[in-house]
Amino acid sequence: MTKRTPLIAGNWKMNLDHLQAIALIQKLCWTLNDADHNWDQVEVAIFPPFTDLRSAQTLIEAEKFEVRLGAQDISKYESGAYTGEISGSMLSKLGAKYVLIGHSERRQYHNESDELLNAKVKAAWANSLVPIICVGETLEELETQGQSAVPVAQTIAALSGHETIGEFVIAYEPVWAIGTGKVATPAEAEAVSKAIRAAILENFGGESAQSRILYGGSVKAANVAGFLASGEVDGVLVGGASLDAEEFAGIARFQKHIVL
Ligand code: PGA
Repeated sequence: MTKRTPLIAGNWKMNLDHLQAIALIQKLCWTLNDADHNWDQVEVAIFPPFTDLRSAQTLIEAEKFEVRLGAQDISKYESGAYTGEISGSMLSKLGAKYVLIGHSERRQYHNESDELLNAKVKAAWANSLVPIICVGETLEELETQGQSAVPVAQTIAALSGHETIGEFVIAYEPVWAIGTGKVATPAEAEAVSKAIRAAILENFGGESAQSRILYGGSVKAANVAGFLASGEVDGVLVGGASLDAEEFAGIARFQKHIVL
């Protein structure tokens, strides 16, 4: 599997009860297996709430599903008196490969700063997790600073100052497109992705610039192919549409909609 294998990531946010979560994983995996999903060519990952991770891990391992598991957040601390926090080592022992860091809902509702997110990236690497660093501009920032400035600055802030840079993924999610039904155009997603990749190359070197850059914000089966057709965007981070197995499987089958 190359580093730029497309990644289809489903962020469930704070949705579904435990039984619904198990049912969704089963349905998703059966649907994808039925459709002869080529797991080597398209990686699929789900991000259930923390409370579902243990059961998700058991189910995925028992059924030998190839879907990857991720968490929606991570503590910057390793262990100790931090009530309510979940550490990176807890996540990696539950089979998580990925962790979302700096989703705009965390930045907005929990005041997560660039400094905190930088520490969370470090905590992810310390526990062999791959951070999916979420970046994106608000509508106001779009109007005053253009589309690339904020996502580029947030990317550099999350990756700066580390002794070594491990594997990471960037998810470009314009805040104005999340859960709103408003979607960036494929050309916009492509342009921002190019700007982020150029900034990574300039600041952190060639290997880091081979990292995957995803688009997120109102992605559905009907619009996914447009984002992935050019090869500049390496996958998608899906919120609402990841709660429906058929719809999410349809997104994972994006290649069927791309006319080469
Ligand atoms: P949405 O959410 O697909 O519901 O717009 C995307 C996200 O928040 O990651």
